[in-house]
Amino acid sequence: MFAKEGLEGVVAARTGLSRIDGEKGELSYRGYSIHDLARHSDFEECVHLLWYGELPTRAQLAETRREMAAQRALHPDALEILRRFARDASPMDMLRTVVSALAIHDPDVHESTREANLRKGVRLTAVMPTVVTAHERLRKGKEPLAPDPSLSHAANFLYMLTGTRPDDLGTRALDVAMLLQLDHGLNASTFAARVTGGTLADMHAAITSAIGTLKGPLHGGANHDVMVMLRTIGEVDKAADFVRTELLQKKKIPGFGHRVYKTLDPRAIHLRDLSERLGKSRGQEKWFQMSVVIEKTCKEMKNLNANVDFYAASTYYLLGFEMDLFTPIFACSRAPGWIAHVIEQHTDNRLIRPLEEYIGPPERPYVPLDKRG
Ligand code: COA
Repeated sequence: MFAKEGLEGVVAARTGLSRIDGEKGELSYRGYSIHDLARHSDFEECVHLLWYGELPTRAQLAETRREMAAQRALHPDALEILRRFARDASPMDMLRTVVSALAIHDPDVHESTREANLRKGVRLTAVMPTVVTAHERLRKGKEPLAPDPSLSHAANFLYMLTGTRPDDLGTRALDVAMLLQLDHGLNASTFAARVTGGTLADMHAAITSAIGTLKGPLHGGANHDVMVMLRTIGEVDKAADFVRTELLQKKKIPGFGHRVYKTLDPRAIHLRDLSERLGKSRGQEKWFQMSVVIEKTCKEMKNLNANVDFYAASTYYLLGFEMDLFTPIFACSRAPGWIAHVIEQHTDNRLIRPLEEYIGPPERPYVPLDKRG
């Protein structure tokens, strides 16, 4: 039987990581509602939850934080790659390339036990923001900054970007934005990670596949396109007309629609709040105001709901990230989820290999080169 286009409605994995109810607009990690986690938890705690199945004790959380903070520095060879390609490569291509190259020196690269995968998971999760920020600084002619192990994952990410310690609101905004994107069922990049992991290829191979998949504008690339749209519109009073015209021309509005959610993406609720608070505190409220008008217009005209990428865009922008860093931030946020899925895939692995329906020409005789017209 042929599945629907895009494998819509097909259940292709069992997972104990995240639960999505697309009709009700619900998302939870290991049974904990995303709303509770966004209000009370943080990125490192949720990473622990995904990888070990339970919320950590105080001592376990301290250990997870310590382990991750200790693995942020870049191998000199990775830094050399960044220096060599900083001005030519896009941040997403650079991240994919460096993550792939990090396999070369990883002591566990050929081992795929749960313990080895967790060690690689810590290293990859810890170092990806260093890759993104080092590239960003190098392409602007600045030297990369050494990570600060006394800072949280999110605060250090911002510190390595700007060289100044972020304020509490900025840190919390990035922390919550990253936490909200940790895992999301069998989305395209997670599926790619599981397919690669399912061949028993190594963790770096799986994460490299996932980063490549996240890049597309129908997936992680949408957050970048949202900000391009906001900047193109420019002013709040032009937003409604812009969106109306686009929709009447049957164009897609980035940051709207979702394969699974039939109602508002629950992550968008928290990102909307962060975007508003950051806008007020930075004296730049127009991005949020414009976003609200776009959201209302999309709802009225096509009953379209905002997805995670819509308010993430203005949140990242207000945090000082260049637009082409938005998708790499998403990759840094989703990496622990990909890692958890590869580990889950390995615990009960069977090669993922669906069937195809052949629709090409029927069998025919080979025609020698000199007989072809
Ligand atoms: N803007 C305008 N119309 C949209 C839309 C959007 N962002 N998203 C979906 N639609 C419309 C489609 O045009 C289609 O309408 P039709 O039935 O009149 O032709 C209908 O909704 C179904 O859309 P479809 O693209 O078939 O849904 P999908 O499940 O294949 O795609 C997405 C889901 C996410 C790829 C799609 O909504 C999209 O391209 N969104 C914009 C990119 C984005 O934000 N991606 C990030 C996802 S987290």
